[in-house]
Amino acid sequence: MPVRPSIAGIDSPDRLAEVLRDAQYIADEGLSTAGYLALALGKPLLLEGAPGVGKTEAAKAIASVLGRGLVRLQCYEGIDASAAMYEWNFPRQMLAIRQAGEDFINLYGDEYLIARPMLQALQNPRQTVLLIDEIDRADPEFEAFLLEFLSDFTLSIPERGTLRAEEHPVVVLTSNRTRELHEALRRRCVYHWIDYPAPALEAQIVMMRASTVAERTAAAVVAAVNRLRAEPLAKPPGVAETVEWAEAATLLNAQGAAWPTAFARAIGVALKDQDDVSYVAPGLDALLAEVAA
Ligand SMILES: Nc1ncnc2c1ncn2[C@@H]1O[C@H](COP(=O)(O)OP(=O)(O)OP(=O)(O)O)[C@@H](O)[C@H]1O
Ligand SMILES: [Mg+2]
Repeated sequence: MPVRPSIAGIDSPDRLAEVLRDAQYIADEGLSTAGYLALALGKPLLLEGAPGVGKTEAAKAIASVLGRGLVRLQCYEGIDASAAMYEWNFPRQMLAIRQAGEDFINLYGDEYLIARPMLQALQNPRQTVLLIDEIDRADPEFEAFLLEFLSDFTLSIPERGTLRAEEHPVVVLTSNRTRELHEALRRRCVYHWIDYPAPALEAQIVMMRASTVAERTAAAVVAAVNRLRAEPLAKPPGVAETVEWAEAATLLNAQGAAWPTAFARAIGVALKDQDDVSYVAPGLDALLAEVAA
């Protein structure tokens, strides 16, 4: 079996939270515990949550604190093994056959193998964090491809045999839960549901990510966003929208728009669906006046 990943210095959930914060990512106790356990046990980390709660960013921050590069596999409908694992360079093989004439050539050497993200992570486990992003967009059959990799960190290439990672690669999977994932996939991972952050944490995130925003503005935006999230919206604002709304309103305020008008005028960075905008419009001024008071 490959050895567990080297995660020098990260010896507790608190320590992970601390270094993530240095990398501009705020993790609550649930996330830092799941992340720590995934690293310490050498298991993939499966993060589920609504859009914009910081799933992808969590993987980037983990790569950054480990001093590794992020190899990202963006999933989509129809993604297959050749996009995720490896491909044979067919034109190059053809060329080699033509040039070889009567000579014997090995068409399955490294020079003909194109490594896609999963093979890249397997070949270079110590320097990479593999992000399998938005796995719920892939077809359910694609998950079956992942199972062998996620449990043994091996890949079978029929022409080459089974390739094995020297060390467990660090793997983060994300899902927006547009569909349920296979039981078999879940079983192989440490699971964590990322919720919208608690208001105090979200205000910290806003100020960390947007240095121009004053504490009062951050608190007001977080309160407004939480009220909007309680409404039945098609696209409730994520953390990115909170940050941008605070930034945009701060900009308009600096140009002379009074509070809470600055928030109202910048609503297009918080809500990005016309039905949602119309839905909240009648009560928006009152809501903003209340949170900006
Ligand atoms: N805990 C956090 N600490 C710091 N920044 C955060 C945090 N959560 C979210 N953010 C901010 O929100 C942005 C959006 O996060 P991210 O893209 O990771 O969301 P996501 O969950 O992957 O969304 P989607 O499902 O739409 O892909 C990040 O770029 C970052 O600025
Ligand atoms: Mg994402």
